[in-house]
Amino acid sequence: MTQNYRITLLPGDGIGPEIMAVAVDVLNVVGKKFDLQFEFTEALIGGAAIDAVGEPLPADTLNTCRQSDAVLLAAIGGYKWDSLPSNMRPEAGLLGLRAGLNLFANLRPAKILPQLIDSSTLKREIVEGVDIMVVRELTGGIYFGKPKGIFATETGEKRGVNTMAYTEAEIDRIGRVAFETAKKRSGKLCSVDKANVLEVSQLWRDRMTQLSAEYPDVELSHLYVDNAAMQLVRSPKQFDTIVTGNLFGDILSDAAAMLTGSIGMLPSASLGASAPGVYEPVHGSAPDIAGQDKANPLAQVLSAAMMLRYGLNQPVAAEFIEKAVLQVLEQGYRTGDIMSADMNLLGCKAMGELLIQTLEGRI
Ligand code: IPM
Ligand code: MG
Repeated sequence: MTQNYRITLLPGDGIGPEIMAVAVDVLNVVGKKFDLQFEFTEALIGGAAIDAVGEPLPADTLNTCRQSDAVLLAAIGGYKWDSLPSNMRPEAGLLGLRAGLNLFANLRPAKILPQLIDSSTLKREIVEGVDIMVVRELTGGIYFGKPKGIFATETGEKRGVNTMAYTEAEIDRIGRVAFETAKKRSGKLCSVDKANVLEVSQLWRDRMTQLSAEYPDVELSHLYVDNAAMQLVRSPKQFDTIVTGNLFGDILSDAAAMLTGSIGMLPSASLGASAPGVYEPVHGSAPDIAGQDKANPLAQVLSAAMMLRYGLNQPVAAEFIEKAVLQVLEQGYRTGDIMSADMNLLGCKAMGELLIQTLEGRI
């Protein structure tokens, strides 16, 4: 029987529309093979929404997302909107979407593909075998804490303020996702904080330690964030699952991504307790190469695979896509960001076409 899914597409800005087009083609081909029918609805977010309707997250977009089974997002932002006030910038649209759908858990896998080891800036022996899952808290911490703003002091001088705060409940719910994730992987969880300086981190560490009693099969360790950043580039294979707050997770997930050669390869899933999840590449909108057919669509395509696996419970279809991506890389095809000697350089469209051929060839 055909399974029907309502998918909201948020192409956003920069290279977003180019890479989204590839992911949609891939989903349609895979849909045919596995008897899945996708009903796609495109909606505005980020700079594209600002230009069209004057705000980065129109109410229509949030409603459309809420009514769908999953949301596939590309990327938002660009120089053009950089000087707008912070609540009107494209980024505010993304943060509003995360908050609006209550997507508190962000899963960012960083796994090195054997085909891309030579694209990493680190030595082969350091990165070979790296397979890390960063579980980043996404709707709390300093991104959302109050007070926030730029205020005038008594002397008239301006003072910028953000607040890093977590309640026990917020820590516990991300902690549980992380322990469950670690349990399904190698059973090692590293919680990253700054408990030597920040009270919010002391509470974070206490709660993680308490929670660990409920997960005897998961080995919990703690690192300060500065040390964690150093260890990630010094000896990344010591990590399996990492759990951390919003800001530390933002930073560490970019660092972890680079171990794999290119941030252009990595997907992510943002999940809540019940609302549809949002699946998006870890990379940004790359305005410098937008519209030039140079973007790497693979993180977007792998995000669609993650959507199939985590959001639609179609792991076989997800794996089918992941295998096709590996096959194309195996055959030596590369976009500019992962290019190395003796490989064949392709643009975004050509990479998409090759993927489709590969998927159809396997059917
Ligand atoms: C990310 C991005 C976002 C973040 C920006 C675009 C708001 O860097 O998803 O990692 O900081 O969370
Ligand atoms: Mg980031």
